[in-house]
Amino acid sequence: MTPTLIDGKKVAADVRARLVKEIEELKAAGHTPGLAVVLVGEDPASQVYVGSKVKACAELGIYSQKWALPAETTQEELVQLIHQLNADDRIHGILVQSPPPPHIDEEAVILNIDPRKDVDGFHPANVAKLVLEDETGFVPCTPLGCMELLAAYGIPTAGKHAVVIGRSMIVGKPMANLLVSKKANATVTIAHSRTADLPGLCRTADILVAAVGRPEMVKADYVKPGAVVLDVGINRIEDASKPRGYRIVGDVDFEAVKDSCSAITPVPGGVGPMTIAMLMANTVKACRQQIAG
Ligand code: GUN
Repeated sequence: MTPTLIDGKKVAADVRARLVKEIEELKAAGHTPGLAVVLVGEDPASQVYVGSKVKACAELGIYSQKWALPAETTQEELVQLIHQLNADDRIHGILVQSPPPPHIDEEAVILNIDPRKDVDGFHPANVAKLVLEDETGFVPCTPLGCMELLAAYGIPTAGKHAVVIGRSMIVGKPMANLLVSKKANATVTIAHSRTADLPGLCRTADILVAAVGRPEMVKADYVKPGAVVLDVGINRIEDASKPRGYRIVGDVDFEAVKDSCSAITPVPGGVGPMTIAMLMANTVKACRQQIAG
């Protein structure tokens, strides 16, 4: 079986095209959506992500501020910046790139973000809204992007068994909440490092979401013939043949599973491009809500 390759670049471009129109309308009414991106420290992957987020804002006409703070920045200094951004009317969305250096208490920092500006959907007020299915809240961008991909490809979720591998607050848990919601109506199992017979469980999945951060962990024996596979992993592995000395692979062994699944997201070019597109969507949503008061 040749699987459908789920083209995240194309779906992300469609989302961005929709947003450009909305942003033009907002600007015509005197409002420019604004996003502040905060990076603490010099993690190379985070630097790339932050750069991509700021670039995406520029391309769409969203006002952005990039705050690149030294690794020694204290918790108090970071919280002070968050309060400044909470009070800045030009800024509708605030994002602190994860993971921060170890001396920073990430949860405590997030608690200081005004939930109305929490476009990452990490604040407990937004986690609660997701669980309550209150659509005024913000949903983390990567799982939101996964749902957008399923919708764009007309992949049904109702009555399907979805297995989400990974229980992070950024992907696994919000993904499970979205899939089990009354909008999607999937039956959901969350698997993790202590799950018994992980391959056997995953083989019962109609929709398999891999969000563990372990390169090519999902092998052929994890996938039921005809299943839909969403690979959220972005892992750097050494590859001396590449100019950078590494290449990017997902959590799924693409070559091993591609012949049995019905549809799959490649890495790169699958879920990855959706994350930033949904961040832009959340920023526009935040702007709209803050205008409405
Ligand atoms: N690090 C990896 N993914 C994300 C994300 O979606 N948001 C933030 N803030 N940090 C991340």
